[in-house]
Amino acid sequence: MSKKITIAIDGFSSTGKSTLAKQLANHLGYVYVDTGAMYRAVTYFAMQNGYITSDYFDKETLINSLPFIKLHFEFNPKVGFGEIFLNGENVENQIRTMEVSGNVSRVAEVSEVRSKLVEQQQEMGKEKGIVMDGRDIGTVVFPDAELKIFMNASLETRAQRRFDELRSKGQEVSFEEVLKNVQERDYIDTHREDSPLVKAKDAIEIDNSNLDREQQFQKVLQLVDTTSKSL
Ligand code: DC
Repeated sequence: MSKKITIAIDGFSSTGKSTLAKQLANHLGYVYVDTGAMYRAVTYFAMQNGYITSDYFDKETLINSLPFIKLHFEFNPKVGFGEIFLNGENVENQIRTMEVSGNVSRVAEVSEVRSKLVEQQQEMGKEKGIVMDGRDIGTVVFPDAELKIFMNASLETRAQRRFDELRSKGQEVSFEEVLKNVQERDYIDTHREDSPLVKAKDAIEIDNSNLDREQQFQKVLQLVDTTSKSL
C-alpha cells in the first residue's frame, strides 16, 4: 500500500481547487478541508454581528470576538464532504453568497484571524491523509507537505465558472459583477501583507483553462501516486 501524504492545493479564486480536492479525497479515502470556508464563516459571523459591511469594518471588535467563534466540519454523506459549522450551526449555504465573497478578502487580511485559523488547520492535518485547499497551505500551513499543487486559469474562465455556479444555485448576479469580484479578490489575496497568495517554490503549477475536470484529476492522481511511492 502506498503511504498516506499531505496534499496542499493553493491557487487563485474559482480555479476549481475544491472540486479537485474533493475528487482526490473521495478517491484516496483522505480527509478534505476547505480553508476558504473557514475564512468565509468568520466573515459571515462578522456580517451577522454588524462588524463588517461593504464600506465599514470594525476590525478590533472582530479580533476581540475571535474566542467566541467556533468552527468545525461535519462529514455529510449525502454530499460527500465535510460541511462547515459556525457555533453549532451549519452555514455551508450562507457562506457562499456574493455578499460574503465581497467582504471575505478584507477579513482574510487580518493577522489575528489568520493565526487562529492556521492553528486549527494544522491541528486538523496532524495526521497524514489530508487534502487541504486554500491560498497559503503549501507556504504557511503545511510547508512540508509532500505534494503541493498551485492552480491557475484565466480570469475570464474563472469568472465564468463562478457565475455558472452562482446561477445554478438560483442567485441573481451579473457576469460583470462576478468578474469584478474575482478580480478584486485576486488583487487583495496577492497583495496582503500577511501570507499573500504566492506559489510555493516546490509547488507544481497546473493551468486548467483548457483541461476538463477528468483530465486534471488523472494528472494529479498520477502525481499523488509518484509522490507516495517515492517516500
Ligand atoms: O477559496 P475561497 O474562494 O472560498 O476563499 C475565500 C477567501 O478566503 C479568498 O478570497 C481568500 C481567503 N482565503 C485565504 O486568505 N487563505 C486561505 N487559506 C483560504 C482562503
